[in-house]
Amino acid sequence: MSDTKQIVVTGQIPEQGLALLREIGEVHVFDEATTDHERAVRLADADAVLTRLPDRVDDAFLAAAPKLRIVANVAVGHDNIDRDACRRHGIVATNTPGVLTDATADIAMALVLMVTRRLGEGERLVRSGEPWKWGMNMMLGTGLQGRRMGIVGMGAIGQALATRAIAFGMQVVYHNRTAVDDDVKTRLGAGLVPLDELLATSDIVSLNCPHTAATHHLIDATAFSTMRRDAFLINTARGPVVDESALVDALDQRMIAGAGLDVYEHEPDVHPGLLDRDDVVLLPHLGSATRETRSAMAELAARNVAAVLDGRPPITPVD
Ligand code: GLV
Repeated sequence: MSDTKQIVVTGQIPEQGLALLREIGEVHVFDEATTDHERAVRLADADAVLTRLPDRVDDAFLAAAPKLRIVANVAVGHDNIDRDACRRHGIVATNTPGVLTDATADIAMALVLMVTRRLGEGERLVRSGEPWKWGMNMMLGTGLQGRRMGIVGMGAIGQALATRAIAFGMQVVYHNRTAVDDDVKTRLGAGLVPLDELLATSDIVSLNCPHTAATHHLIDATAFSTMRRDAFLINTARGPVVDESALVDALDQRMIAGAGLDVYEHEPDVHPGLLDRDDVVLLPHLGSATRETRSAMAELAARNVAAVLDGRPPITPVD
């Protein structure tokens, strides 16, 4: 039997990552034509697997891959990976923090601008061919200067968003479960506040926390009733952090002014109550979708595989 390392990639990733993987072993990239049988055979023989957001890595997945040493998730979020199951199977799990910070913060800020300035609505109007002409009161939005941005989850992406919000003249408060470097206060002038206070006082509430048992439906009917009627919700984190039905109710009852979403509770399905509204902006999970960022994510995942298969510690373990 050959001792060439067998590496499975569960779907297309940028060439830069694949090139690195080919230096380590034999690479098998699944695509739509890959049959269930072929998937099972490749996984049974895999030393490493690169996973993407739609993949569920649980006991059943790991039991089907008895030679596996590493699951390298090509994403910073890792709620698709059962870390306890990885521990039980003695498998290292890694993610791709750092390399997608700016791209994701850019999308959060883009959603802020889109929803407060009604940019999606404006674009739809022009494309519709309906007659329109400039008017003093036409499609008025909300300015950002002097407004308060409340960031839930002040990790790297939250901090990068804070920098952008401050550049737009906003004041920033944040909520984080664990302590954040003092430097955040001095560097960003951002103050830590309890979640209730953040929800009750922010003009924009941006979710930048991971999806865990503790953050599942963090933004529910009670949270919406705490938010201001003129506030906007931005979610570039994970869909299930928001109770999407409660969001639709809150919008219907005008408990908040609007929402900008890049992620969905039952992704890729979107609650039908969101689809026809002008007070929401909906993006198809584009947070890290720049060529540079996706290449960097694939490279980092490949370097994690190289390290672990070489007997070195992983570069970015999820723990
Ligand atoms: C994208 O959502 C990621 O977690 O990388």
